[in-house]
Amino acid sequence: MLALPPGTKATAHGWIKTRRDSKGVHFIQINDGSSFPDLQIVLEAGKTVEETLAKATTGAAVRVSGEMVESPGKGQAVELRAETLEVIGASPPETYPLQKKRHNLETLREFGHFRPRSNTFGAVFRVRNALAYAIHKFFQERGFLYVHAPILTTSDAEGAGAMFQVTTLDVANPPRSPENGGRIDYTKDFFSKPAYLTVSGQLEAEIFALAFTNVYTFGPTFRAENSNTPRHLAEFWMIEPEMAFCDLEGNQQLAEEFLKYLISYVMEHCRPDLEFFNQRYEPSLLATLENVAGSEFARLPYTQAVEILEKSGRQWEFPVSWGSDLQSEHERYLTEEIFKRPVIVTDYPARIKAFYMRSNDDGKTVRAMDVLAPGIGEIIGGSQREERLDVLLEKLREHRLPEENYWWYLDLRRFGGVPHSGFGLGFERMMMYVTGMKNIRDVIPFPRTPGHAEF
Ligand code: 4AD
Ligand code: MG
Repeated sequence: MLALPPGTKATAHGWIKTRRDSKGVHFIQINDGSSFPDLQIVLEAGKTVEETLAKATTGAAVRVSGEMVESPGKGQAVELRAETLEVIGASPPETYPLQKKRHNLETLREFGHFRPRSNTFGAVFRVRNALAYAIHKFFQERGFLYVHAPILTTSDAEGAGAMFQVTTLDVANPPRSPENGGRIDYTKDFFSKPAYLTVSGQLEAEIFALAFTNVYTFGPTFRAENSNTPRHLAEFWMIEPEMAFCDLEGNQQLAEEFLKYLISYVMEHCRPDLEFFNQRYEPSLLATLENVAGSEFARLPYTQAVEILEKSGRQWEFPVSWGSDLQSEHERYLTEEIFKRPVIVTDYPARIKAFYMRSNDDGKTVRAMDVLAPGIGEIIGGSQREERLDVLLEKLREHRLPEENYWWYLDLRRFGGVPHSGFGLGFERMMMYVTGMKNIRDVIPFPRTPGHAEF
């Protein structure tokens, strides 16, 4: 909001947060979304016709002109002494859903069209904006090429199902081919074959890395997993850098530098918002962020992580032994209780990871890396990619993936292939980390989860 020096003539507009009337004067807090602090309007009684004043209620849109003056009150250095007040859009108090009493986050979620006007979501979306900018800044400063990976795709990047199918066929009565056992005839579909919303832009990023060396994607991705947890969305944004001539060591270095850069950026540029989160939602937020920006991430192989978990003496909800995937409870134990900082776990069993990860010589593990963050668990997943054609062909067979669907991916190994690596950062997981918000639904403008796709 306006923070002009005292004595300046000013016109401000925004939405009324609160209003307090005292003897001979009205105090009206307005905000236009530009910063955490509201602008305090001081309006002498009698300056405005009663009718206008009656409409100046919480949620109304107003325009105010007057002069900036030093504020004698607490909470702001300057305030706007109003000469004129105009109500541009009234907000009838009897029916406005967000009257001034504090609302919990669940209630606010039902009012996705009004929650951006609240203190909490004002702060969330300013941080989200800054974080998106910082992501581009980080990669652009390092010469990475921004690639737009397709959203509609016919290939499954993770080879794990969980894709939303996109079709223009009549779902009530799809064409069927009798020669093919009566199965749906996708040659009649829009793309002449089954199509989906992408789960990851990685495979397309690999194409570009093998031409531009260092690239990144930043776009929406979709997963039809039925996981109703505070950390999963059906539509989320992912940042996927991909680097040619780079092994897992370089990949880990980039991931660590990237996360620290983003944390430092928001600490520098979103201070009032972060202070609010620290005060209202997560009292250790600022201390944690400062600590992470200055400390080295722990690094250890999966096998060692499993040994630590087995020796912990804990009762796990999901038992852990070599070969099983790490669950959120295990990830959080490692990062919150053992290392007390972000942890990079590498070299997972091949069986629990995607087909494209590079095989290690032990024949059992792959060059995978997950970055785990306190309070969140997995925030980044990545790997060195399998660049050896014969090994990749074998892996496609093991994962029961049809070779012909990946012809172009295999070509990248046949012609000018090089070792290359990359990772994916979940944008909303990172948002949770830097804001301390506990539910992923509260860090994206319009959350999509099983059973929910409002607005
Ligand atoms: O570990 P994931 O599945 O990795 C990939 O998709 C790779 N193709 C990335 C790469 O190597 N280029 O997903 C990457 C990250 C996760 O670590 C997590 O932060 C986030 O994406 N993520 C989700 N965020 C919100 N909701 C979901 N359902 C998510 N699934 C993954
Ligand atoms: Mg993962």
